[in-house]
Amino acid sequence: MRFAAIADIHGNYPALEAVLADIAAHGITDIVNLGDCFSGPLEAGKVADRLLSLSIPTVRGNHDRYLIEKRPEDMHLSDSAAHAQLNGEHLDWLRSLPAEQIYRNEIYLCHATPADDNLYWLDMAIADGSVVLRPQAEIEALAEGIDAPLILCGHTHIPRMVALSGGRLIVNPGSVGCPAYDDDKPYPHKVETGHAMASYAVLERSAAGWTAQFRNVRYDNMAMSALAKANGRLEWAAALATGRMP
Ligand SMILES: [Fe+2]
Repeated sequence: MRFAAIADIHGNYPALEAVLADIAAHGITDIVNLGDCFSGPLEAGKVADRLLSLSIPTVRGNHDRYLIEKRPEDMHLSDSAAHAQLNGEHLDWLRSLPAEQIYRNEIYLCHATPADDNLYWLDMAIADGSVVLRPQAEIEALAEGIDAPLILCGHTHIPRMVALSGGRLIVNPGSVGCPAYDDDKPYPHKVETGHAMASYAVLERSAAGWTAQFRNVRYDNMAMSALAKANGRLEWAAALATGRMP
């Protein structure tokens, strides 16, 4: 059994198209989407049309939730920029998404963690502003009660795989559309992949168990960087150009 996991598209349509083409080129037809589909100063409307037509299993990200819970005037810039491009059908689709789901009876999907869509699972920000691998006991505690052999999450935009007790594997495929960002909770920190390519993962089960292949795909990232700049989002422009924050 083999399928692809995508996450954190954040409105980056050409990155999504490049990843979908790469997935198809590998003969893979089954895809799951781990959320945060639209928020950002890019092409949320085009991404929404594409995702609705794809009709793949999708869980709701924290930014997907903000788009249906908050009033536009109360939204952060990245959410309001996306919201302005979404129609009623797109928003109804977001409302229909579950926060978690079991894929093919054996794979657990959520955006960030099972109980909190805005908490890093495999990583954590520390006081000096860096982001490091979370201690094993904490990762295990967040996975308590989930006995799926393969667990998938997104949210941090950092591709990572961690082995859990009981032979379970937890995988974050990285971000399709946003290779760097900063945040101020619980400490001001930067997440930077250090490259500008679109990331996703291929999951495969052999007789020995599940493995993940992390893939990175080139696309016209400079066009998206220029779009972010034209929309007044210089930090997005830098992130899309380099995979680092200014
Ligand atoms: Fe997120």
